[in-house]
Amino acid sequence: MITEIINSNDKKAMQRAADIIKSGGVVAFPTETVYGLGANAYDDAAVAGIFAAKGRPADNPLIVHIENMNMIDDIAVGIPDDFYMLYERFMPGPLTVILHKNKKIGGVVTAGLDTVAVRFPRHRTAAELIKKSGCPLAAPSANLSTHVSPTSAAHVFDDLNGRIPMIVDGGECSVGIESTVLDMTGDIPVILRPGAITLDMLKKVLKDVTEQRRFGGADVVRSPGTKYKHYSTRAELLLTDTAEEANALYDAACGEGKKAVIIVRTGDAALCGNRGFFCIPDDPKGYAKKIYSLLRAAEISHDVIVCQRPELSGQGASIMNRLQKAAK
Ligand code: TXA
Ligand code: MG
Repeated sequence: MITEIINSNDKKAMQRAADIIKSGGVVAFPTETVYGLGANAYDDAAVAGIFAAKGRPADNPLIVHIENMNMIDDIAVGIPDDFYMLYERFMPGPLTVILHKNKKIGGVVTAGLDTVAVRFPRHRTAAELIKKSGCPLAAPSANLSTHVSPTSAAHVFDDLNGRIPMIVDGGECSVGIESTVLDMTGDIPVILRPGAITLDMLKKVLKDVTEQRRFGGADVVRSPGTKYKHYSTRAELLLTDTAEEANALYDAACGEGKKAVIIVRTGDAALCGNRGFFCIPDDPKGYAKKIYSLLRAAEISHDVIVCQRPELSGQGASIMNRLQKAAK
């Protein structure tokens, strides 16, 4: 299969992207978080094509993407009032909510669960593609299963060239890490995956909200995806707090004959001397935007990536959630 990359500003090409979706195919498209690989959420056979292209395990459910609130009643039932409060404050945006599923959504999307993940992305190209396709799009991140999520069309091409017919290029993603996943099907809302919408931000809208890890115990893993290896780089990833510690790990790796590189916060870059390094912004927001593209750039020609952690304020903890999984 030839994989075509189209520009999101090309109206005719965007119509062809929608035609692929309408005829049961898959298309990669930008969102503000990461690129997604979309198919008609009401067409189980089309959705199966997503799992095949990514090599994704069939028991890991997908997020259903919408572009207006009129679509929600065909996707979910028994929607709590709090959901609409979140909608007012955070949507469109990088927040995914788990609700009880409407039977119009088939079992392939939800991996047989009776709940469904819904997200209203902020990226105008995502909205345009959903609108032109005339259906919500089931979409996971558009990487090969277990690899780092893509934040540019080139990243998608690197992973899925020859496996999908089309990639819509809408430039670099502005957020850079995947959406916050919030489960609203239990007694109190629970964050299953942290993201740019943080616990503190949600607390300003919801009376009760908590994070999954506060519950402890492996038996309460409610997001099937969290049990899989995720976000891995193709080079060994080591995490450090300081540039000095990064230098020591870099020197040790080089001493063993390995090719190493450091990802260092810009403010500390001068401390790395003549070692090989990439700079990443000091603030967590800028860090989140760049981290996946730097990990992908670093893994290409290195055996070891030594990465300085983000500051833990704001979305720093959400970035750490990804880095810790990638470093395992
Ligand atoms: O930012 C994002 O969320 C991106 C863009 C493309 O929207 N999508 C994304 O999808 O990261 P994916 O498939 O890579 O991650 C979705 C996560 C997985 O951990 C999955 O297990 C969880 O959401 N999930 C989906 N449906 C669920 C459900 N019904 N119950 C619990 N977790 C669910
Ligand atoms: Mg993913």
